[in-house]
Amino acid sequence: MSARLLLGLERGAVRFVRGARAATDALCGVALVPRRLIIDTSYSAHFMDFTGSSIPSSTRKLVVTRLSPRFREAVSVQTVAVPTPGDAELLVRNRFVGINASDINYAAGRYDPTVKPPFDAGFEGIGEVVGVGLSASARFTVGDTVAYFGSGAFAEYTVVPTKVAVRVPSVKPEFLTLLVSGATAYIALKRLGDLTQGENVLVTAAAGGTGQFAVQFAKMAGCHVIGTCSSDEKAGFLKSIGCDRPINYKTEDLGRTLRAEYPKGVDVVYESVGGGILELALNCLANKGRLIVIGFISGYQSESGIPPFRGGTLPVKLLQKSASVRGFFLPHFVSDYREALGAMMQMLAKGTLACEVDCGDLAEGGRFQGLEAVFRAVDYMYAGKNLGKVVVEVAPPPVSGSKL
Ligand SMILES: NC(=O)c1ccc[n+]([C@@H]2O[C@H](COP(=O)([O-])OP(=O)(O)OC[C@H]3O[C@@H](n4cnc5c(N)ncnc54)[C@H](OP(=O)(O)O)[C@@H]3O)[C@@H](O)[C@H]2O)c1
Repeated sequence: MSARLLLGLERGAVRFVRGARAATDALCGVALVPRRLIIDTSYSAHFMDFTGSSIPSSTRKLVVTRLSPRFREAVSVQTVAVPTPGDAELLVRNRFVGINASDINYAAGRYDPTVKPPFDAGFEGIGEVVGVGLSASARFTVGDTVAYFGSGAFAEYTVVPTKVAVRVPSVKPEFLTLLVSGATAYIALKRLGDLTQGENVLVTAAAGGTGQFAVQFAKMAGCHVIGTCSSDEKAGFLKSIGCDRPINYKTEDLGRTLRAEYPKGVDVVYESVGGGILELALNCLANKGRLIVIGFISGYQSESGIPPFRGGTLPVKLLQKSASVRGFFLPHFVSDYREALGAMMQMLAKGTLACEVDCGDLAEGGRFQGLEAVFRAVDYMYAGKNLGKVVVEVAPPPVSGSKL
């Protein structure tokens, strides 16, 4: 990726933050609670719930101290003073944080080629507000439960700008699955998929964080859905969320199966793996097929971050089939975010959307608990072991007096 492109992505991320604020406002109606008033603000710019929540004097966070796609080499645990929220910020005690495939791209500095360590890691969290800046107190109060998509989530306490905080009715990890993984599938398929009832849709890494949503949204659009995965357990899960044809590529030849069972090709591909899988998916596109590039995880652990791809004949393939390849990057679709999050929250509330969470209960070493478990959770995802969205339980639920 060129430096110019990456800088463009950064600018997109800033615009995204603005849109996330709109989403916050949309969801504020979910659970309105009485606001706590600041009586005397002359001496203090913020509230901190030191008494009610026993905020410690020091805390721990994960910091990228050297740029590398090898997460364990790039990131270390640091003990720091508990940060103080600024004017339009919240201090959030994280209960759960979400793992994303791109955590290692971020630690390798691929989002911004000018970035220099140290900087904080982690994209999304959910927890309880324990500190409120002055202007933030107009919309939030100590004790609120919020989810957020913002930097520095891999920490026990994170300062979160109010513009990226979404109030949620309770701290369930399921809400965490929607902020990035769900929103990516919802918006990408809606804006770039042009799905028509009866079309064939292929989802790669279908049983993962974002794949599970792509499967369900394609089914909701009346499509026939094919999903790739690496185990029979994942194939069973895919069946349970409506996938018509799960393909365990470890036991079935993916290319041969697609050619045999879909001789006219597939109409839409939601592609997250890259490399050989991308080539195979391109070769099986139907006439007027659309392939959406969601990611290329098979290359992220390499130095370049990009898996090998033989694309020399791509123009020929696209022309012969009037097909297209479309890239999708969530921060570029900020104007769709509010509607997407609102719609998914409603589906979750109605029980029409499965939000599978994997906290590592079956992982070697057990459940992902505590900040250090982020390292194991990243390894687990990159070993292809996860079923659903990988989530780490940073802190146990408090004993009493909290909504966590
Ligand atoms: N464009 C965007 O805005 C955006 C936003 C969010 C996510 N994404 C992309 O979506 C993809 C999935 O991300 P996620 O966070 O939801 O992860 P995930 O799907 O929960 O986990 C990754 C899965 O990828 C599959 N995989 C296939 N080949 C792999 C390989 N060589 N190494 C590791 N895993 C491999 C594994 O499933 P199987 O073993 O079952 O194949 C693994 O479980 C990534 O490419 C990510 O960059 C893009």
